[in-house]
Amino acid sequence: SPSDPDLVERARAAKEKLGDKVFVLGHHYQRDEVIQFADVTGDSFKLARDAAAKPEAEYIVFCGVHFMAESADILTGDEQKVVLPDLAAGCSMADMATAEQVAECWDVLTEAGVAEQVVPVSYMNSSADIKAFTGKHGGTICTSSNAERALNWAFEQGEKVLFLPDQHLGRNTAVRDMGMSLDDCVLYNPHKPNGGLTVEELRAAKMILWRGHCSVHGRFSLDSVNDVRERVPGVNVLVHPECRHEVVAAADYVGSTEYIINTLEAAPAGSKWAIGTELNLVRRLANRFADQDKEIVFLDKTVCFCSTMNRIDLPHLVWTLESLAEGNLVNQIQVDKETESFAKLALERMLALP
Ligand code: 13P
Ligand code: SF4
Repeated sequence: SPSDPDLVERARAAKEKLGDKVFVLGHHYQRDEVIQFADVTGDSFKLARDAAAKPEAEYIVFCGVHFMAESADILTGDEQKVVLPDLAAGCSMADMATAEQVAECWDVLTEAGVAEQVVPVSYMNSSADIKAFTGKHGGTICTSSNAERALNWAFEQGEKVLFLPDQHLGRNTAVRDMGMSLDDCVLYNPHKPNGGLTVEELRAAKMILWRGHCSVHGRFSLDSVNDVRERVPGVNVLVHPECRHEVVAAADYVGSTEYIINTLEAAPAGSKWAIGTELNLVRRLANRFADQDKEIVFLDKTVCFCSTMNRIDLPHLVWTLESLAEGNLVNQIQVDKETESFAKLALERMLALP
């Protein structure tokens, strides 16, 4: 829907008043009404890398979800304040791994006698506590754009990987990109004693996958792929690696949001694409490429927006920018020092990946 011109004008005026004091970052899943005010847009890797790109800005307004704002706080100096326009913008996947559950998992691995061989690799979509756990135990963070490199690095450090919290990104990267077999992977269920695994299973596994998933991407199915191929002859199926393994295995192209955008930019006129990722991004791309004769359809019309990404709307952005312009620091995201130091170690390992 078109944005309210009154609110657009208020956001513009507040941003202008703030000038160099504010730096607005926007994830590709944000609404159009919000993304128009972003100084930088990107996938989660690019936004983590660029968070510190404007050190003179006192405020970093993060239009995205909580774990992204935490990562920006970890990667920037104390003088820079990170602000999340709606504190309820969380991520259901990140919530699937709590610090207590992960500590318990490490005890299970220790008792099974495998902890010493295990390197944790945590997806960016996790809380600062999980990132700190990862840093403490010699592991790295990854995003969907560098998961293979992160896993290659991890397997140089140890024989097994504990992959948190997205089972699908872990499995898809290991099997599709690195040639492991499905049998090399086991699923650790934090709601079952010992993760629902035997000591033998833990000893035999190369990839120990946490039982987490994205509630949005998890809804694309093999039927979605088969149906769109029937409906749109000659279509290229392009999906995000948070999709289930059978969806990724049936797709033609797989990658992060930034990869999806780059692939469509490079696509020839006349080509047809079915995209399996969040709807705000797919709609934006469909509109953007409509006049270049690239047909872009949503992989499955029954799948909807990421509800937490959508919590950041124009009214919240206006309230945030106007508050900051009046000198009121609102909705600051601040990670405590101890957590920050270990989480930073893990994030910096990611940023240093070859
Ligand atoms: P990327 O932007 O890194 O592809 O991640 C997608 C996502 O789900 C962020 O929550
Ligand atoms: Fe989390 Fe999925 Fe939303 Fe990304 S799309 S923020 S992984 S719930």
